[in-house]
Amino acid sequence: MALQTVLAAILFTTFLFISSASAQSARTVNVRNYGVVPDGRTDNQKGFLRAWNDACNGNGASILYVPKGVYVLGPVVFSGPCRGPIMFLMTGVLKALPGPSAVSNWINFRNVNLMLLKGGGTFDGQGPSAWRFNNCAKDVNCKPLPINLKFDSVTNSRIEFVKSVNSKQTHISLHGCQNVNITKVEVLAPADSPNTDGIKMGRSSGIRISNTRISTGDDCVAILSGSSNIDVSNVHCGPGHGISIGSLGKYRGELNVHGVSVTRCTFSQTDNGVRIKSWASPIPAIASNFLFQDIVMDRVRNPIIIDQTYCPHTTCGKEAASHIQISDVTYRNIRGTSSSDVAVSFECSKKFPCKNIVMTDIKFDNSNGGLPLKSSCSNVIGRTFGNQSPRPCF
Ligand SMILES: *[C@@H]1O[C@H](CO)[C@@H](O)[C@H](O)[C@H]1NC(C)=O
Repeated sequence: MALQTVLAAILFTTFLFISSASAQSARTVNVRNYGVVPDGRTDNQKGFLRAWNDACNGNGASILYVPKGVYVLGPVVFSGPCRGPIMFLMTGVLKALPGPSAVSNWINFRNVNLMLLKGGGTFDGQGPSAWRFNNCAKDVNCKPLPINLKFDSVTNSRIEFVKSVNSKQTHISLHGCQNVNITKVEVLAPADSPNTDGIKMGRSSGIRISNTRISTGDDCVAILSGSSNIDVSNVHCGPGHGISIGSLGKYRGELNVHGVSVTRCTFSQTDNGVRIKSWASPIPAIASNFLFQDIVMDRVRNPIIIDQTYCPHTTCGKEAASHIQISDVTYRNIRGTSSSDVAVSFECSKKFPCKNIVMTDIKFDNSNGGLPLKSSCSNVIGRTFGNQSPRPCF
């Protein structure tokens, strides 16, 4: 079969929402026909943009094909709307330019509907060349470091079977996205790499992350302001800072977060397991309807944690309280080992206590030997069912 036919067949079988007629006539745009060279040196920015524009502006379904090889690529914005569904078939390795960048994203997809990004390829952000410019609190030489893959207003799309390595900042970030499925993705960066969140989202709904491994220096998954209907399942996190809702209440005009389910996930030697975090600030929002179920943790420092006292720069004052109302949070069948004495910690807002926190079958052992584990709470209203170890504090 000619490559064209093979690709059309892949498109046909994996892109079910395209009519068969348009799938059969999918055009393939090979970046190699646009002056792009996989020599590991040349910046291929212009060729990639020209190829994207041709694929995106062709009538009907298109395939943007990146054959095997190592391609250096400067920052790019792949903009839609496109004139039909588009498959970005990435089988090569893309390498960012080394060092800090003047722009905040490396590869940015904007206003694209019906996209499928797949192919087993790697996005290598070249983080080790830039992480030392990260320390903006202490270092006048700090520079904005780009996100590896940024999705703005991307809808009805899939990201599957690709790898993000050593991003300079967040690996994958979604903003204003709807109905995006992320599966069989791998995220990899060292445990001490700064601000390298795995998958982060805001103002997005219908985001599903499944069968994904995340090893990085910051949150594995971070669910921020304005997110709803988020499903995280079969995700492995570690090393990393866990799966977080928040932090919330940092910026003015934040939106509610509701409907998040985190199920069948594993954590290995992470700082946190499942965390809800908000600033002790006057910014209000509601964070509700969360399910954490069937989770196994190995040597996690704070396995189950709600922290509404977050105020890293001590600007909040002693009396400050979070104005984020957390409610309807279920923890069910969560077990494993804790590497600190406190396996369950709920520090809720004194102005807006956490409501309807339900815990069923929680079982943790201390990974540092025999000492019994504790739970700690303030301002929590909830109920427990089944076995509880450590003993509940409400
Ligand atoms: C994502 O997965 C859900 C559940 O399997 C499915 O209903 C939805 O159509 C999928 N969306 C895309 C864009 O593939």
